[in-house]
Amino acid sequence: MGKIRAAITGINAWVPEYRLTNHELSKMVDTSDEWIMQRVGIRERRILKGEGLGTSVLGENAVRGLLEKTGTSPDEIDLLICATVTGDMMFPATANIICDKVGIKNAFSFDLAAACSGFLFALQTGAAYIESGQRRKVIVVGADKMSSITDYTDRTTCPLFGDAAGAVLLEPGEEDFGIMDHILHVDGSGKKYLHLKAGGSLKPASHETVDAREHFIYQEGQSVFKFAVVSMADVAAEIMERNNLTADDIAWLVPHQANLRIIDATGRRMGLPPEKVMINIEHFGNTTAATIPLCLWEYESKLKKGDKLILAAFGGGFTWGSIYVKWAYDPK
Ligand code: UT7
Repeated sequence: MGKIRAAITGINAWVPEYRLTNHELSKMVDTSDEWIMQRVGIRERRILKGEGLGTSVLGENAVRGLLEKTGTSPDEIDLLICATVTGDMMFPATANIICDKVGIKNAFSFDLAAACSGFLFALQTGAAYIESGQRRKVIVVGADKMSSITDYTDRTTCPLFGDAAGAVLLEPGEEDFGIMDHILHVDGSGKKYLHLKAGGSLKPASHETVDAREHFIYQEGQSVFKFAVVSMADVAAEIMERNNLTADDIAWLVPHQANLRIIDATGRRMGLPPEKVMINIEHFGNTTAATIPLCLWEYESKLKKGDKLILAAFGGGFTWGSIYVKWAYDPK
């Protein structure tokens, strides 16, 4: 019997309606549309407004739509993994809350925290459950309400992030389609450049942590940039070489959307023309665990069965990696 492969058999995403434009940001902090477009490539990002709405709302909408689109009953799902660093609460897991909201009752579920590489780490984890034969219908959702940890008085971080969720259905596929290979890395010493200082067990919330604005993203942008630009390009090139893929073989690069300059460098390193690179950073910004499924969802109608895709990401941790996918279905 051949190897069981995990194939993506459906994709959906969800973004909130509110668009926070560069123009509006320039009234909040000392920045400009020109600076943000030149240095990062973002024009607007979606924000989940309203009281009592956490990341699970983003995930719920993405997953509900995925179930409808793929004609799958919630009862059929036997595992749901939610990649996020902005869970509704410290516990329970946001994955559990999403399951409850959409009526998934026959599954186990958990959150996975790998920041901007979260979707790749979760995708590979979900795939391993399918490949081992232990589970047959797995949902992997990347969801982050980044606006909940973004300091809108800090011009160096507030233009970067947005809110979104994207979800895929994984099922056992034909032998030669699906998740073909992965390379995933972590280097915990990168923590000092990108983290959230307070709110965890190391430094629980207090008046002092709130006053010091320590519940917001801390990032040393230039240092992260240097690691990201090399690591993401290297790992994408490595997975190509390991699978004897040339630029001609590859239909699409699906990169994490943190900075257009990092995306361009990765595409160049792989020898890909710009038209083979999925880009939507301009409209959504960096939505952390959601960027890659959000791209796949937007480009779904262009994807054909057998297309070779390289997914690549870099994020807090540091975490980074690449997954080689052979797309398993034609546009419906
Ligand atoms: O997804 C998770 C991983 N994260 C990343 O991959 C992010 C990696 N880093 C980056 O994308 C970039 O470093 C940033 C977009 C965060 C910043 O771009 P940069 O080209 O590295 O800018 P910089 O930090 O070197 O700042 C250059 C200048 C500084 O002014 P001076 O010191 O040269 O006078 C900043 O104060 O730009 C200034 N600046 C701004 N100016 C206008 C920083 N933020 C802004 C702003 N508007 N929003």
